[in-house]
Amino acid sequence: MEIINFGKGYPANVLLPHTLMQKACESHLQEEKKLFLHYGHKQGEEKFRELLASFLQQNYKTAIEKEDLLITCGASQGLDLICQHFTKPGDTIFIEEPSYFLVFKIFTDRGLNLVPINTGKNGLDLAELESKLKAHNPVFFYTIPTFQNPGGTTLQEEQRQKLVALSEKHDFLIVADEVYHLLDYSMRSPFPFCHYSKRVLSLGSFSKILAPGLRLGWIHCCSTLLNKMLEDSVLGSGGGFNRFISGQVYSFIKLGFQQQHLKLLIGSYRLRSGALYYFLTTILPDVICSPPEGGYFLWVELPKGINAQQLLERAKKHGVTFHPGYKFSTQKKLNNFIRLSFSFYDCDILEEGIRRLAKCF
Ligand SMILES: Cc1ncc(COP(=O)(O)O)c(C=O)c1O
Repeated sequence: MEIINFGKGYPANVLLPHTLMQKACESHLQEEKKLFLHYGHKQGEEKFRELLASFLQQNYKTAIEKEDLLITCGASQGLDLICQHFTKPGDTIFIEEPSYFLVFKIFTDRGLNLVPINTGKNGLDLAELESKLKAHNPVFFYTIPTFQNPGGTTLQEEQRQKLVALSEKHDFLIVADEVYHLLDYSMRSPFPFCHYSKRVLSLGSFSKILAPGLRLGWIHCCSTLLNKMLEDSVLGSGGGFNRFISGQVYSFIKLGFQQQHLKLLIGSYRLRSGALYYFLTTILPDVICSPPEGGYFLWVELPKGINAQQLLERAKKHGVTFHPGYKFSTQKKLNNFIRLSFSFYDCDILEEGIRRLAKCF
């Protein structure tokens, strides 16, 4: 029996556009000649940033300037770059509870203290955030504002504006990890965070809209913040990050493949997310979960008395696994939750996974 792993937070092989990528690479090597083989601009090749800005503008439905984009090797590297240039060891940052578990170590490796702020289906607890500002002086608040990992939740417009007002009053930055923003299945999400303030560093990534193996992403922010990162010594010595791959992706966007692929992803994930939600709530009616609106994940509250870690041990014996909630908590709490990803499997396997899970309850 092959294990069904609901922990896989990445695209299925069939959703990686191998043939289109091959065409883009061929076209790139023929058309663009040697440009992308040279050392590059620290901020990323201007031609690429210009095209990326127009792709983002079309999909974000708000103005994006090429001057406000810095090309990175993905959101993870972008986050580390932000820590390097805006924090020092011993500084405090605020982080949503729950949050993306692999980011914790990026922050602690930089010597940062993490202070959790609760977030859930009713949104971010802004009163808690405000009260904690009295005791702490955070450099930034790290948020995954749209289709959160793991919660699937989206910070609504009013909360975004209140958060911006607090950041101005108390002088902290907002680091908005927006890697799921474009995977919108309900078409109701607010604008990306830079739309609301110049105190925001927004992270985007081709990992979620094209392929994680490319290691290509961007930071979107105002020139004052961006110039600070351009002082980076690695950029100074080596030129822009991941220049050659940005050339391949340039052709991928230019040929119209990125827009086409995004449409395919949205259609496929909408179907998968709806199917997983349906199977979960019909086969396991005692769990609590909100209908998915975007991103990759369902965040599932277990019935009283069921512990996620114990459930996982039983689940492994039935051929199914997932990430237990405590992984997403800086305090190792939330063990009454589990995270299920729908990005990797077809609907029939998602159903089989839930049937296996049901045997463990
Ligand atoms: C919220 C969040 N940020 C960042 C990443 C990693 O992005 P990248 O592959 O661009 O480093 C992920 C991947 O799962 C994620 O969920």
